[in-house]
Amino acid sequence: MEGMIRKDNSGWWDGSVGYEIYVRSFADSDGDGVGDLPGITGKLEYLSWLGVDLVWITPFYPSPMADFGYDVSDYCGVDPLFGTLEDFDQLITEAHRQDLRVIIDLVPNHSSSAHPWFQSSRSSVDDKYRGYYHWRDPSSDGKPPNNWVSHFGGSAWTLDEESEQYYLHLFLPEQPDLNWNNPEVINEFDEIIQFWLSRDVDGFRIDVAQGLVKNMLMPDNPIRFQINESMSPRQVFASFDHRYDLDQAGNLEIFRRWRNLVDPHDALLLGEVYLRDNDPNRVSRYVSSGDALHRAFYFAPMHVPWDPQSMWDTFRDALDAAPEDLSWALSSHDDPRAPTRFGGGEEGKQRALAYSVLLFFLPGLPVIFQGDELGLPSIELALEELADPVATRNAVETDGRDGARTPIPWNSSSGFGFTHGTPWIPIGNRSEKDTVEYQQKTHGSWLMRYRTLLQIRKDNLDLDSPLRWITARDSDVISFSRGGLISALNVGGSGQILSLPNGQWELAFHVGEVALNDRSVAFGENSAAILILAS
Ligand code: GLC
Repeated sequence: MEGMIRKDNSGWWDGSVGYEIYVRSFADSDGDGVGDLPGITGKLEYLSWLGVDLVWITPFYPSPMADFGYDVSDYCGVDPLFGTLEDFDQLITEAHRQDLRVIIDLVPNHSSSAHPWFQSSRSSVDDKYRGYYHWRDPSSDGKPPNNWVSHFGGSAWTLDEESEQYYLHLFLPEQPDLNWNNPEVINEFDEIIQFWLSRDVDGFRIDVAQGLVKNMLMPDNPIRFQINESMSPRQVFASFDHRYDLDQAGNLEIFRRWRNLVDPHDALLLGEVYLRDNDPNRVSRYVSSGDALHRAFYFAPMHVPWDPQSMWDTFRDALDAAPEDLSWALSSHDDPRAPTRFGGGEEGKQRALAYSVLLFFLPGLPVIFQGDELGLPSIELALEELADPVATRNAVETDGRDGARTPIPWNSSSGFGFTHGTPWIPIGNRSEKDTVEYQQKTHGSWLMRYRTLLQIRKDNLDLDSPLRWITARDSDVISFSRGGLISALNVGGSGQILSLPNGQWELAFHVGEVALNDRSVAFGENSAAILILAS
């Protein structure tokens, strides 16, 4: 096998645009109010019409759904809520027929507490599966073994009364962390990966890629900021230096091993490398050796405020650290949607589209979250409508994730064409103008513009042309060229002028007020443009 490892990260995904499907909320085929695999199959035509190349499907495995599928109780099956393995096979066949690739969400950091491994593991300290998880004695005062906290609030340890030991969970107590220092766990996942490769998947999005391996001495994490009661789980989590629970060197060994498994199948490894500080040099280690992950999500662009200096810092530093191999998302099922993050209303929507002009033309893999292409803002749900455990299990007002997870409005029939039953979470105050059906037949709609943008990318982006910045940190216009194409985003006020390099430039796409003059472009507020060199 050794000889087959490719020492670079190229593949069919170069030049691709990805699309994240949050399966519960995409399309429901059977009327139970929850999106499912046949629902996705029915929309593949839409996705290929839109012009994306690669679809990432969030977990559809059997699960008690404590974290809506990110708590897996069988890694090689399909939850009946989402369909059957045959439905999955059909989805893959149909996607491939339409030239779409499909990657699935692998959740290796933790299983569900309902997984037979954990059930067995907790049955006795001598159980053969005990070592699949992290079990520790209480500290001398009976408290948890160390000060690690869960992403979702509270200690990362839960006491099992029966065996009087604690088990580790960086997320919910229903999501016990697997022990990646145990070779048997490593072998189990080799088999899981092979199982899905043999069903013809085109790769994996790796959940919590930064978290797999832990420092087995389990020392306390150093505290960076004073913690107080009014902080949200995210803030508490960010108050620690995660020196011993995240981003351990051993993670790379796991991904190198997986690279051996996927390369012969030409499959993609795309990691969720969620490091709170977003240090691009740390993220880049997951891709830079060319034999571990092919691509790593870089999350800073999903949190950056609409401010030129912050954006410059975000993009320049990231591209210096990993010039080719990052993946860029506009929104996700874990964060507020871009139009909301950028201030909401028409202005927020315009900014999100303008921002896409920058994001989609960077080297690397851009990923659209379902509904981004419609310009959808997040939905504000009433307290009693919240479903995300991050929101429902914490007394403090938190950054729960429901607002980005509401169903896609396909048309203006009842249930917005998402379901003919009762949706599992309210669809919220969407209007006819938000729907796919309306936008598909409306010239100049967000959907039609996203489609045009993707088409321009496909037709004009020369993948071999490196990025060259054509403005610098002192400019409010962030702009770069790649061969005969310029992408420019104005994050400042009205009236910014961009001087163009030599040549005859044509305006191929713009958002907001943009005027092309002889050798320069004038930008209004919240605007962006793609320029193409006439041949
Ligand atoms: C990732 C997923 C998120 C999930 C968590 C735990 O961050 O994107 O939705 O809750 O991992 O699996």
